[in-house]
Amino acid sequence: MTPALPTVPASEGAAPRAVRLTINGSSESLALEPRHTLLDALRTQLDLTGTKRVCDMGNCGACTVLVEGKAMYSCLLLAVDCADRAVTTIEGLTSTDRNPEGQLDPVQQAFVEADAFQCGFCTPGQIMSLRSLLDADPAPTDEAILRTVTGNLCRCGAYQNILKAGRRAVEIAQQRRQEGAGA
Ligand code: FES
Ligand code: FES
Repeated sequence: MTPALPTVPASEGAAPRAVRLTINGSSESLALEPRHTLLDALRTQLDLTGTKRVCDMGNCGACTVLVEGKAMYSCLLLAVDCADRAVTTIEGLTSTDRNPEGQLDPVQQAFVEADAFQCGFCTPGQIMSLRSLLDADPAPTDEAILRTVTGNLCRCGAYQNILKAGRRAVEIAQQRRQEGAGA
């Protein structure tokens, strides 16, 4: 039997208060208790379920999002602490300035091409971590790619193809830059 996923428990703390979050470029006003995590807000209030909840305690990386461009575990961040910080989830990758046509982000495209998943449950977190890496270093080494995804547990053991996806994402991003420069 599939175990039930953890959910936000019934209210037992301070009353909710209005918190404004910037998610994927949109400003959202939410009623949140101080104990609610960013992951709670994304999944239960905004229905952005691409960000996965697995361990809910900072062990697996399934909940990775970008906060001000840095990969972070959303289960370890209080939502109230994310006010006025730009948050990007997997759903927001296709609508960034990088991908104005709504095309897949190079990292997403590379995961498809390299068949870098089995069950796919860890995949959004893997993609967000690698997106952050490529933003910091457009031509990372294999070692850097592997080091980046050590914080993203893949229980299916798809790391070989995740490495291939990381390499392929570099190529796709480079190709798009060249096409942009030639336009
Ligand atoms: S759900 Fe956040 S690290 Fe596992
Ligand atoms: S593809 Fe199944 S956990 Fe990574």
